[in-house]
Amino acid sequence: MDIIVDLLLAILHHFLVFTLAGLLAAEFALVRPGLSGASLDLLGRIDRAYGGVAMAIIVVGICRVLFGVRGWEFYVANHAFWGKMVAFVIVGALSSRPTMRIIAWRRSGTGVVPEGEIGAVRSWIKGEIFFLALVLVFAAAMARGVGS
Ligand code: HEM
Repeated sequence: MDIIVDLLLAILHHFLVFTLAGLLAAEFALVRPGLSGASLDLLGRIDRAYGGVAMAIIVVGICRVLFGVRGWEFYVANHAFWGKMVAFVIVGALSSRPTMRIIAWRRSGTGVVPEGEIGAVRSWIKGEIFFLALVLVFAAAMARGVGS
C-alpha cells in the first residue's frame, strides 16, 4: 500500500512539474515585442495556471515528504533537499515580477504592452528557467541520497 501511495504521488509530481515547465516555456514564447490583444489575455491565463500548478507542486511535494516510502527524516537531513527548496523558493520569488507586470498590462485597458518593458520581463523569466533547472539537479541528487 505504501509503495502505491509513493508511486501515485511520484506520478502526480512529475505530471505537475512537466506542466509547470511547459507553462513557463509558453510564457517565454509569448513575452516578446508586439505582445497585445488575444496573446496578452492568453498570457494572463497561462500565468494564473502557472501559479496554480506551483501551489499544487508544493502540496504534492509535501505529501511526498510526509507519505513517501523514505520517510520525512531522510529529507530534512539531506542537503540536496534543502538546496532544492531554496532553488524552488527563488523561482517563486523571480516569478512575482512577471506576474505583477502581466496584471498591470492587462489592467491598463489598452491591450498593448510597452515595448520597453518586454526585455526586463524576459530576463526575469530566464532567471526562473535557470533556477528551475537547478531544482531538477537537486531533485536528482536527493533522490539518490547525495547530500545525506
Ligand atoms: C518546480 C519544483 C519541483 C521540481 C521541478 C521537482 C522535480 C522533481 C523530480 C524530477 C523528482 C524525481 C527525482 C528522481 O527520481 O530522479 C522529484 C522528486 C521529489 N520531490 Fe520534487 N520537484 C519540485 C518541487 C518539490 C517540492 C516543493 C517538494 C517538497 C516540498 C518536493 C519533494 C520531492 C520529493 C520528496 C521527491 C522524491 C525524492 C525521492 O525519490 O526520494 N519537490 N522532484
